Amino acid sequence: MVQSSRFLRACQGLPVDRIPVWLMRQAGRYLPEYRKVREQVSFLTLCKTPSLAVEVTLQPVQRLGVDAAILFSDILLLLEPMGIEVSFEENGGPRLDPTIAGKGDVEALPVPDPEDQLGFVLEAIRQLRATLGGETALIGFSGAPFTLATYLIEGGSSRDFAKTKGLMYQEPRTFHRLMAHLARSVLLYLEAQVRAGVQALQLFDTWAVVLSPQDYREYVLPHMQELLESLRACQVPTIHFSLGTSTLLDSMAKLGAQVLSLDWKIDIGEAREKLGSKQPVQGNLDPMALFKPAEDLCRTVSRMLEQGSRWPGYIFNLGHGIHPKTPVENVVRLVETVRTFPVPAAKGTDG
Ligand code: CP3
Repeated sequence: MVQSSRFLRACQGLPVDRIPVWLMRQAGRYLPEYRKVREQVSFLTLCKTPSLAVEVTLQPVQRLGVDAAILFSDILLLLEPMGIEVSFEENGGPRLDPTIAGKGDVEALPVPDPEDQLGFVLEAIRQLRATLGGETALIGFSGAPFTLATYLIEGGSSRDFAKTKGLMYQEPRTFHRLMAHLARSVLLYLEAQVRAGVQALQLFDTWAVVLSPQDYREYVLPHMQELLESLRACQVPTIHFSLGTSTLLDSMAKLGAQVLSLDWKIDIGEAREKLGSKQPVQGNLDPMALFKPAEDLCRTVSRMLEQGSRWPGYIFNLGHGIHPKTPVENVVRLVETVRTFPVPAAKGTDG
């Protein structure tokens, strides 16, 4: 099927007229128009009010001209219908209560019904698809099972992930059960997002970076492979994001995701060389590079574009979310640099 959106074409490894670009956390506190909405409502209210979620999803599309919109929501919202209270302290991290500590807690967790319990997410998706033109793709997302498990077990963000690893090493069967429960919940949630209209799915496995390659293979990889295999039936591209794409790249190449989103700790050219010309990739500017002086930023971005676009199947993005203090004019400049980068015709064959 020929796709009209250059983002969706790149996800499939097809040639494009220019490199598609979107940015993780493109709707967020670095945007004055986002801060204005947040002066009126809390973050959770924003996520749960479809008209407002739609408004902030569209803000970066309008200001930056990015090639994809990512639904405004949060990975932790899937945990509320499991009976977990989620809160965000102002300018602080998330808090979850109660936490998961053992077998009984895992067995008591229900699988959420997305249509019934996360209807506000699906409604925002339907409204967005009715508003966005065919050029701008809509990305849905979920936390990946491991990253969701860390929040459930730690009760928030963590430095050493001691509780998560404690459960993993002391009760491996319970840990696998929790992973299977989360994988099932994520599958149903993402299927519902596709039915509502998202055109690509990104799985955020931010905290996989804290695992050794061996533990990743043992505790995460099989669950992710099964999940990604089940998601194939949805017939939309899947994007796998994680930190740790330099240490875990071998395993991540075996996940079965259409696109691998890379963090900035590996050169994009080196990653593409390792993964081969057929593996579409997304990334991988260090979000802090947006604090460089304009000329340095343009040079860094141009070098990345040259290396990344050696083969079709390249989507420009950051290696993690934009920092809230990022100067907005630098973000505008970044997107403009990508949008005007010439893709040599010889680098793609017609798709
Ligand atoms: O623009 C987008 O990228 C879409 C919206 C989005 C948010 N969070 C909005 C958000 C997405 C895709 C996420 C994913 C998410 N949420 C992840 C995975 C990606 C990553 O960043 O590693 C994680 C780990 C979370 C959990 C989470 N949500 C944390 C740890 C925090 C607090 C840290 C912070 O940045 O404040 C949040 C809050 C959050 N999620 C904000 C936004 C815009 C800030 C809330 C505010 O407006 O005050």
